[in-house]
Amino acid sequence: MTEAIVLSLPDDAAFGEALAGALGAEHVQISWRHFPDGESHVTLPERLAGRPVAINCTLARPDPKLAPLLFVADAARDLEAKQVGLVAPYLAYMRQDRRFQAGEAITSRTFARVLSSSFDWLATVDPHLHRYTSLDEIYAIPSRVVHAAPLLGRWIGDNVIRPVILGPDAESEQWVSEVAADINAPYAVFTKTRLDDREVRINPPDLSRYAGHQPVLVDDIVSSGRTLIEAARHLDNAGFAKPVCAVTHALLGQDAHDDLARSVASIVSSDTVPHFTNAISVVQELGLAVRELLWPESSSSRGGRD
Ligand code: R5P
Repeated sequence: MTEAIVLSLPDDAAFGEALAGALGAEHVQISWRHFPDGESHVTLPERLAGRPVAINCTLARPDPKLAPLLFVADAARDLEAKQVGLVAPYLAYMRQDRRFQAGEAITSRTFARVLSSSFDWLATVDPHLHRYTSLDEIYAIPSRVVHAAPLLGRWIGDNVIRPVILGPDAESEQWVSEVAADINAPYAVFTKTRLDDREVRINPPDLSRYAGHQPVLVDDIVSSGRTLIEAARHLDNAGFAKPVCAVTHALLGQDAHDDLARSVASIVSSDTVPHFTNAISVVQELGLAVRELLWPESSSSRGGRD
């Protein structure tokens, strides 16, 4: 097998180093600087010819990263890489999956089209599949999806006594039910109506049978934190202890974190987005998925395209 190379943008270097370690690949942090007028200048290692290249770039706050990411992918091809894949532990622009208001751009489709035209494959963790059932509906390249639920479940099982797993909305049932089954805990799901970017209305299910359990709120994304704050408020009203929050993608800034931290006992996240709440690593599982894409001929099948 030709030695693969993982290229990371500077903010993603720690994850890239660990991923390359899991793959037995070389890791290089690419150089990215700005000209005085703000345009990007990227420099790749020259030794890419004939090698499979995985570009590692988590896509939280994606807009400033998109141009350099596309430049790196195109330059890797120009330097004769054998293949150019994208490892995006967090995949952006999945939530705008339909036109909610007249005239809105359906950015999930545009973003997918742009990435599909620049990369040979995509590996990610729990993309926000709500009205799409699979990445294949919008991405034209092969993809592998890693599910963080077993990892969140393992952390909860190791760290929380007598948990009840709670999902803040109907979509969360997919991972909440999996986490609960993995650690043999009960679960329940709230219903949510989003009023605007930062306001949600949440209705709790009947929680009386879980009295005495430690509530654990599990979600794929925390961004403004309002969803989990609202769910925590209902738990407080129902007489529960402050909840533990376990999320896959921590997109929240400092202020949102501080607001949420006042309402909950603790917040832990996976390392798909670098954040001080990271406590759960997806590196090994993502490495297995990337391995299948880098060397399809030598990987045993672990299920189909996702
Ligand atoms: C949306 O449906 C997701 O699963 C999350 O619940 C949502 O993105 C959380 O956003 P926020 O933290 O801004 O309420």
